[in-house]
Amino acid sequence: MKQVKVGIIGFGFMGTTHFRIHQANPKSKIVAIADADAAKRSGDIRKVHGNIGGGVNDHLDLTGIRVYKDGLDLINDPEVEEVDICAPTYLHAAFAIAALKAGKHVLLEKPAALTVKDVKAIVAEAEKSGKCFTVGLCVRAWPEYRKAFELFKAGKIGKIRSALFKRFSPNIDGDAWKNWFMKDENSGGALLDLHMHDIDEVLYFCGKPRAVTTVGTWYKTGIPDHSFTIYHFDDDKAVAAEGGWSAPRCAGFEMSFQLIGEKGTIVSNPSGLWFYPVKGEAEKLELKVGDKPTGWHVEIDNFLSACLGKSSDEKYLPHKDIVDGACIYEAERKSLDNKGKTVTVRYR
Ligand SMILES: NC(=O)c1ccc[n+]([C@@H]2O[C@H](COP(=O)([O-])OP(=O)(O)OC[C@H]3O[C@@H](n4cnc5c(N)ncnc54)[C@H](O)[C@@H]3O)[C@@H](O)[C@H]2O)c1
Repeated sequence: MKQVKVGIIGFGFMGTTHFRIHQANPKSKIVAIADADAAKRSGDIRKVHGNIGGGVNDHLDLTGIRVYKDGLDLINDPEVEEVDICAPTYLHAAFAIAALKAGKHVLLEKPAALTVKDVKAIVAEAEKSGKCFTVGLCVRAWPEYRKAFELFKAGKIGKIRSALFKRFSPNIDGDAWKNWFMKDENSGGALLDLHMHDIDEVLYFCGKPRAVTTVGTWYKTGIPDHSFTIYHFDDDKAVAAEGGWSAPRCAGFEMSFQLIGEKGTIVSNPSGLWFYPVKGEAEKLELKVGDKPTGWHVEIDNFLSACLGKSSDEKYLPHKDIVDGACIYEAERKSLDNKGKTVTVRYR
């Protein structure tokens, strides 16, 4: 079978997660990794921590894989066909644009970048390059969300009357490389880093909000750490999302949602995925995940298929949604900074 030759930049929580998934997928062959940290370059990942999933262990075998300190050297490695960027967010734009200019396919972790200007520049470069490109907004591909979207599109709940999305994470202070998440200029705090997934779900299920109202709390390092947003639409839908990493360390990670439609309701919570018809009995929906238990597996598998010319890189995430999501985030951040003033989203 033809394989895509993959290089991963950033070998922390997400890079090692992508590494394992790529390694288990017959469509890919990892030929290089790059990381700024010498221990991780030797496969020692004892300092890697994350807030969800992952199966973190102590050591990964890098035999036969070229190892770089600088991501730009990996990009210039002629054998690398796909660059998988799992570096801290403030480095995304520079690495993504360099990789696309070098003629590589690019899988870029979310959030694409810190500003709308940078996100637009990356997407424009991707369109110009003709190479495959996507952003790791993996929740669209996560089993519960995928199933709910299929049912919604098939008309099972009818028109959405209201929707609620939630992402609840324990505090991550001290987890990442040089604690980079805790600086606003590096990560945008929980509003951008964590809640971006639910901005994308709002867009996916409900379309483009006209305006947003966001209130929230701030962590001691000056970053947003928990927020509540109301999305204003031109029709009479009521849509809201909550997200943050303000919970104590001992709390578990939770993502959940509810979609209330004219013909029925879908709820995903720790007890499972449920369909409640307007008339009839509650139904627990079974998910057949096979060897792809997470959205990361599905997203990476689809991206490899796209690189091999077998599917579209926009199957789960149209490129235009990457830019629209960044514009919604920008309005939410403005609203939060202004203590909950309603802000019109400036799509561009
Ligand atoms: N899709 C998801 O579910 C999800 C989950 C967690 C994180 N993320 C995203 O993944 C990205 C990485 O986050 P993380 O949690 O893995 O962080 P992390 O700190 O665990 O890993 C980042 C790695 O990048 C390395 N690095 C730093 N500068 C570098 C450089 N110039 N060149 C090469 N390597 C460099 C660090 O040494 C570190 O190993 C972020 O953008 C984050 O938002 C996505």
